[in-house]
Amino acid sequence: IREDPEAASRYIADYIIDRIKVFDPTPEKPFVLGLPTGSSPEIIYMILVQRYKDGDISFRNVVTFNMDEYVGIPREHPESYHSFMYKHFFSHVDVDPGNIHILNGNAPDLEAECIAYEEKIKQAGGIELFLGGIGPDGHIAFNEPGSSMKSRTRVKTLAYDTIIANSRFFGNDLTKVPKMALTVGVQTVLDAREIVIIITGAHKALALQKCIEEGVNHMWTLSSLQLHPHPMIVVDEDATLEL
Ligand code: GLP
Repeated sequence: IREDPEAASRYIADYIIDRIKVFDPTPEKPFVLGLPTGSSPEIIYMILVQRYKDGDISFRNVVTFNMDEYVGIPREHPESYHSFMYKHFFSHVDVDPGNIHILNGNAPDLEAECIAYEEKIKQAGGIELFLGGIGPDGHIAFNEPGSSMKSRTRVKTLAYDTIIANSRFFGNDLTKVPKMALTVGVQTVLDAREIVIIITGAHKALALQKCIEEGVNHMWTLSSLQLHPHPMIVVDEDATLEL
């Protein structure tokens, strides 16, 4: 528990940098990092970029896999997760473009795209550390309430609550929010060797309580972390209001 979003983000950014340094990645043995979007990780990316600019860390031998992407908006759309990642992170660090993996929400065959994504993760040797956030309904990536704990990368219809929550990025116009997304599955996240989640704000306090104080439940997909041997949830004070 950290005082505020900034302190929580700093803790995570420092942690990730330490993990990469200790791992000491090489082109033959890269560090495979799972990455999220959303407003919660923005400060983390800001700090990582700053530390890169300070010469403290290199992402040259880091391979990335993003959690999810909307279906049906162009890649260049300012609110696509592709655009988000380049704007907040990839354009500012030395990550090799060939090492970046983001699901293509405009692939002609979405199912084949999802199967290929799982295959690429496998070929990369699995994810070393998956960083994530949650929605106010406790979803990780776009694994909405009711997602199978065994789910893999797939097409998912967004929950109405998520469409409302994300409408702030689309001029508060529900009709402009994509209704479907590609997302890694709950099991894809659980397969990572380590999972780090950031949760900030009172609007996520109920989700945090449900996910860590109650049982494993597919209506609150973050609760699946209880099944993982090496998870870490970093929160601010506001997110603890229901604990
Ligand atoms: C979307 C993303 C999630 C993210 C969530 C929370 O639903 N698919 O991966 O965790 O937003 O976003 P925010 O941090 O903006 O609350």
